[in-house]
Amino acid sequence: MENVKLNLKYSRILSNEINKYSEKVAEIHDELHAKANNKKEFLGWLELPTKYDKKEVEKIKKAAKKIQSDSEVLVVIGIGGSYLGARAVIEALTNTFYNYLPQSQRKTPMVLYVGNNLNPNYINDLIELIGTKDLSINVVSKSGTTTEPAIAFRIFRELLENKYGLKEAQKRIYVTTDKKKGALKQIADEEKYTTFVIPDNIGGRYSVLTAVGLLPIAVAGIDIEKLLEGARFAQEKYLDKNLKYNDCYKYAVARNILYGKEKNIEILVSYEPKMHYMIEWWKQLFGESEGKDGKAIYPTGAEFTTDLHSLGQYIQEGRRNLFETVINIKESESDINIHGDEYDLDELNYLVGKSLDYVNKKAMEGTIQAHVEGDVPNIVITMDKLNEYTIGHLIYFFELACAMSGKILGINPFDQPGVEKYKTNMFILLGKPGYGKATTQNISELNEEKTDDVKLDKKTTKPHKTASQKVNEEKEEKLPEEKSKSKRGRKKKAE
Ligand code: PA5
Repeated sequence: MENVKLNLKYSRILSNEINKYSEKVAEIHDELHAKANNKKEFLGWLELPTKYDKKEVEKIKKAAKKIQSDSEVLVVIGIGGSYLGARAVIEALTNTFYNYLPQSQRKTPMVLYVGNNLNPNYINDLIELIGTKDLSINVVSKSGTTTEPAIAFRIFRELLENKYGLKEAQKRIYVTTDKKKGALKQIADEEKYTTFVIPDNIGGRYSVLTAVGLLPIAVAGIDIEKLLEGARFAQEKYLDKNLKYNDCYKYAVARNILYGKEKNIEILVSYEPKMHYMIEWWKQLFGESEGKDGKAIYPTGAEFTTDLHSLGQYIQEGRRNLFETVINIKESESDINIHGDEYDLDELNYLVGKSLDYVNKKAMEGTIQAHVEGDVPNIVITMDKLNEYTIGHLIYFFELACAMSGKILGINPFDQPGVEKYKTNMFILLGKPGYGKATTQNISELNEEKTDDVKLDKKTTKPHKTASQKVNEEKEEKLPEEKSKSKRGRKKKAE
């Protein structure tokens, strides 16, 4: 089952450059594996595919079945590592237009995401889209205190309680969080929500193969056992610390060699639009893991051939600090044959008998050649096809490569201290208790003009009713008693 393969032929890296890293890689390999079971290290993902909690997976499958049977929509609330992995796998392995399909064709619930930004329009539009559809929510937060998902959860919990009443809402809320700590855990225990555990020693961006990713993925009808099997195959395959035989470590080394040659931007490229969120997940994995101490490759992504008509010019002839990693999917899930046309005005008859996937592949080959000739080294990762096994394999490949690459770079790939900076400033500006007063320049002036605009709007237009207000008002009419019960029923945090 050789389903994910690395090709460095177009990377302009010589094998002796790679070989120089052999000892270092073996050392890091030993260090990672020696600490794999240490609860204090964030290495729980390393042996997860062979050591995952079977009971938890059974519980996930049971919950997914229930959600499939009673909900038309699953709303996943989470940000960063608490939602990107699930979205990446679901989008890679379902119909490109999954959420747009009629329920009868899709068969499993729509999966929609919230709590990944602070934008009111996004939330109002989402509530409008959900309308009267039956829904469940899966709130995912390891810390249980992240502002974006916490606000979204407050909004959606209220919506659910207003729609179904307190008791039924309790049965439709699924919480994935820490085993013991955090506000979310406290709420879940108080309200008796079904909970799933994010292991202590697995950080957000390495957590897709835990309940964080597995519950939404299972709800979308994807076989999570096969996903884990693909990852398990990769875990075993990349146990070899000999760099010569380890594609995953070779990728990590190749990145560092290119970084040493001033190639400090890596573009992850795919010719399959379904891989869009896989690229987003990868960006977070490498960006948050490696971007520290003034170092590291800036990870970015592109979808070809779409972006060849936007970024293509820059990649071909702009500043020469780029390299590309191309995900090549060998076998397309479906194809379209190109038919002849009597008049051939579009001059496409030369393609008669060829398929669209063939054309797409030729575009890829032509682009790799052009970019390499333009001094953009290319690394190619070939997947046999898109399925649970190959995606499980790819996830593990990137997680392990990221850990190895970060260690070679000399940073800690498992923390993210820089993410706190914006949060602290935001809390100060919002007046969150315990955060003190702003000491830095007050940037609120940026929105002063906007305040005037809002006043003007208020004078000239009717107050805008949000979608959530509309849905709540409708439900209030239907369930006045239930609603007041739910308000009375909730305990205060201090009690
Ligand atoms: O990878 C990470 O650790 C982060 O991206 C987190 O997943 C993200 O910040 C969300 O954190 P939490 O799950 O605590 O809400």
